[in-house]
This record gives sequence, C-alpha cells and structure tokens, in this order.
Amino acid sequence: MDALHISVIGTGTLGEAVARRLLDRGFPVSVWNRTHSRALPLASAGARVCRTPTEAVTGADVVITLLFDAAAVLDVMGDAWSGVSASVVWMQSSTVGVKGSREIAELARARGIRCVDAPVLGTRGPALEGTLTALLAGADEDVARLDPVLQALCTHRTVAGSAAPAASALKLAMNTWIAALTAGAAQAMAVAERLGVREELVLDALSGTGMTSPYIQGKGAAMLRQDYPVQFSVDALAKDLHLALRETPGQAPMLLTALAGLFQEAVASGHGADDIAAVRESFGHSVG
Ligand SMILES: NC(=O)c1ccc[n+]([C@@H]2O[C@H](COP(=O)([O-])OP(=O)(O)OC[C@H]3O[C@@H](n4cnc5c(N)ncnc54)[C@H](OP(=O)(O)O)[C@@H]3O)[C@@H](O)[C@H]2O)c1
Repeated sequence: MDALHISVIGTGTLGEAVARRLLDRGFPVSVWNRTHSRALPLASAGARVCRTPTEAVTGADVVITLLFDAAAVLDVMGDAWSGVSASVVWMQSSTVGVKGSREIAELARARGIRCVDAPVLGTRGPALEGTLTALLAGADEDVARLDPVLQALCTHRTVAGSAAPAASALKLAMNTWIAALTAGAAQAMAVAERLGVREELVLDALSGTGMTSPYIQGKGAAMLRQDYPVQFSVDALAKDLHLALRETPGQAPMLLTALAGLFQEAVASGHGADDIAAVRESFGHSVG
C-alpha cells in the first residue's frame, strides 16, 4: 500500500519536528505555515512547502493541525477544505481547550470532514524521535485510519473517549501536571539558593530517588544554566493554564491559579518565547 499523504498545517516548534519525523519515515508531506520562511527549511528535507492551507490539504489523506490556539485553527481551517478528498481524516493536535475543541468539531461536521481530537504530550525532541504520546477522541474507524501516522510519531496512546472534546479535556489536565512539575522544580531550586545550598545538589539528591525523571533532570539542568532554548514555550503553557483555569468548573483551584500566575509572570518579564523551564526566573535569584 502507498504511504499516506500527510499535510502538516503549522510548522512552529512542534509542527516542524512532526513534519521532519514523517518525512524521515517516508511519508509524502505537504506543509503550510503563516510565516512562509519558517516552513522553507523543510523543503530540503523533502516537504512540499505550500503558499495556502488549501494547497497544502489538497490530495492529503491525513491533515495534522499544529497551530497555536483554537482561534488560529478556526481561522486557518475554516475555508481550507475545497480541494480535499472525501476520505481525509483531520488529526487536530493543537492544544485548544474544551470550548475550542467543540467549536473545531462543529466546523469539521459542517464541512463534512472526519476529525479526531488528538492533542499530544511531548515536545520537539520526542516528536523528532517518534516518542510522543497521543491523546485520542474520535470514531474508531477514523482513529484506525490514523494508525500509520500514530505509529510514526508516538510510542503511547491514551484513548480519552469516542468524540471531542474528551482528549482536549485530558490535555488540559496533563498540562496542569507539567506546569506543576516544572514550577515545583523551580520553586525547590529557589528555596535551595535562598538557604545557601548549591542548586545542583537538588538535582543530585533527587537522582537517587524514585521521584526523578529525565524530564525533571532536563528542565532542572536548563534552570541551572539559566539557558532556555524552546521545546515548549512559556507562551503556549500560559495559554493552556489560562484555558484550564477558565474551563474547570467550580471554585478556581488554588494551585492552578498560582501556576497560571507564575507562567503569566514569566511571559510579562519577557520569557514568553523561551522554554517553560524559564519559570525559574519567576522565583528570582539571590543577589551575590
Ligand atoms: N511545543 C510543544 O512541546 C507542544 C507540546 C504539545 C502541544 N503543543 C501545542 O501544539 C501547538 C503548536 O505548538 P508549538 O510549540 O509548535 O507553538 P509555536 O512554536 O508557537 O508555533 C505556533 C504555530 O501556530 C501558528 N500561528 C499562530 N497564530 C496563528 C494565526 N493566527 N494564524 C495562523 N497561524 C498561526 C504559527 O505561525 P507563525 O510561524 O507564522 O507564527 C506557528 O506555526 C500549540 O497548540 C501548543 O500548545 C506544543
């Protein structure tokens, strides 16, 4: 059987890595990005770099959207479908929240497009290595159609339900977890520094316990270096925490409120485009 033709809409931090991984695995890939120049490096890796979203989805079997938020997805994909084949499946992997996921499902229904709510866990590195986790909510036959793509990109799948917004809701819970881990590490390192303890000792002590992980050691090392090359931006996580705060029913949860505030402060102090490890800067540093 011929490889599925994939269209990747949005070649930012994650979309670019996803497109590269699919090209590496032999899929024909068309890409579109609002800022055309940002997609151009993918041409030398074999991608067809398109001028419009419609051009990019024409002839695709699977369309993957990796745009910043729901507003961008609705705006870009609203009228993109004129040249699309009847069997196309839309893998919507941007983090869009519950309301956004419902609106996107409604758009897909109105356009007659089969759509799987499919946000992912993992950043640029795991995308390039094919070790993302997919959170999935869609009809069984549509998820089955995505199987070759999921096999190329992911080592784990969690089925959250059979329709949107189940996977997008789970994604908000998972990003709350990621924010708590990252901000928790930053807070512990700030406490160590204030108490006159070298911050690397926090990571060293942790490494002998069951609480460590490659994730936390990697983020901790970035905090030590105060160098934050982006894997997952502060801007994107601040957006997701805001969604979680707005969309979680009941009284505003205390920890989530604090996390949203910390990451928003990192945005306000100029770290929006940095990696989320830059939340360390929200806790300040001792002078001298
Ligand atoms: N990075 C991660 O680790 C990660 C992990 C899981 C999920 N996600 C989610 O995946 C999505 C993409 O993340 P990312 O890290 O790749 O973000 P990013 O680097 O900020 O890229 C955002 C993408 O969205 C495009 N975009 C933004 N606003 C737009 C608009 N109004 N119209 C058209 N295009 C627009 C950008 O185009 P330009 O290049 O023109 O700005 C770019 O292609 C987000 O929803 C994010 O929350 C990210």
